[in-house]
Amino acid sequence: MHVKKVVLGVCSSISIYKACEIVRLFQKNSIQVQVIMTKNATKLISPLLFSSLTGRKTVVDPFQGEFQERIEHVSLAKEISLFLVAPATANIIGKFANGIADDFMSTFYMAIECPVLIAPAMNDAMFWHKQTQNNIQKLKDFGVNFVDPEKGYLACGDEGWGRLAAPEKIVEQGLFLMSKSLSLKGKTVLVTAGPTREYMDPVRFLSNLSSGKMGYAIADEAMRRGAKVYLVSGPTHLTVPKGTEIIKVETAEEMEKEVLKRFDLVDIVVMAAAVSDFKFSKPASKKIKKSGAPKSMSIIQTPDVLKKLGERKGKKILIGFAAETDNVVQNALDKIKQKNLDLIIANEASKAGIGFESDFNQVTIIYPDGKTVCTKKQTKDAISRIILDKIEEIVGQKNRKSIT
Ligand code: CTP
Repeated sequence: MHVKKVVLGVCSSISIYKACEIVRLFQKNSIQVQVIMTKNATKLISPLLFSSLTGRKTVVDPFQGEFQERIEHVSLAKEISLFLVAPATANIIGKFANGIADDFMSTFYMAIECPVLIAPAMNDAMFWHKQTQNNIQKLKDFGVNFVDPEKGYLACGDEGWGRLAAPEKIVEQGLFLMSKSLSLKGKTVLVTAGPTREYMDPVRFLSNLSSGKMGYAIADEAMRRGAKVYLVSGPTHLTVPKGTEIIKVETAEEMEKEVLKRFDLVDIVVMAAAVSDFKFSKPASKKIKKSGAPKSMSIIQTPDVLKKLGERKGKKILIGFAAETDNVVQNALDKIKQKNLDLIIANEASKAGIGFESDFNQVTIIYPDGKTVCTKKQTKDAISRIILDKIEEIVGQKNRKSIT
């Protein structure tokens, strides 16, 4: 049986004693715990206590340890299902949020890919300080999860927010994230991303401003949730999300061919690509010289990939995107009908600071019955998680329908 592993990061807070209970609760759920402590935490509790509880040597700072030991801890980063920091001080939250990696715990945070959960514990004023709130928001935008502290009597004698949440609540949230990290296991998702290029001659083309960031974020998130992911991508400068199968294309016709080839294999398609609607009817096979330039060149429509998928949809889930400049919701609703979609993600293409090329987006998620969900302006990573949550709801509804 594959045993799930959690790494528990323990910082210096009076509530440190609650970390022992957290270890016990994970163990009761048959989950193996490895503890990492900051140096300051060891002034409050001996690492030996956690080593005895977990049966695994507590890591404090292996940078001073043996080479072999360091290698083991790097490989540990690949094996775990959750990194929980409880109690987390304002200091460690600040380090994580700002990319400071000056001890083992902060370095470890930067080396992992599993879900991260942070349970802060600090004085009320420190918790509400703008800097701390800013750091927390930054981490939330990166996809880090938080268990809010509770209100009550604090070690400094004050009454207020900042008390570490109850161990039961922290572990419950941790277990939820561990199950969620595999919520699309067994599903195959095909995501398209980026622009297409429609060539006029071998060196010139018609294209658009799409950077591919939204589609890549969705592919990455689907992969993190355990899905097998095909990413059919137009030209971008982005790093391919680890674990996804990339298929690089240039033109709308190539995209159509690669998507149709895999359509029978997939359960969900997310067409985030900005497919060019037009192409040159007769592209030149050699570079067109200035002297021999034609007076005009005719353009014709490219295939509508998503419309074709809608015609042969079956039980698959189809998600489209709609970049609109006006009448956003009505135009998107028309596209849902024309292309037989389960959901469309619309954004205003003309709005500054979101959409094309930006790291941010603000979208309206539109259902076939006209229901809409508007998000606030967030990173494309955060938007991708909202979209995947909605897709999972549709998967759940379809499963229930097929049972009844
Ligand atoms: N799409 C597609 N093939 C095309 C054009 C668009 O598969 N040739 C997909 C896009 O990936 C997107 C959805 O259809 O998911 C809507 O694309 P959009 O450009 O907003 O709309 P169009 O259908 O092209 O209509 P119009 O340009 O007239 O708004």
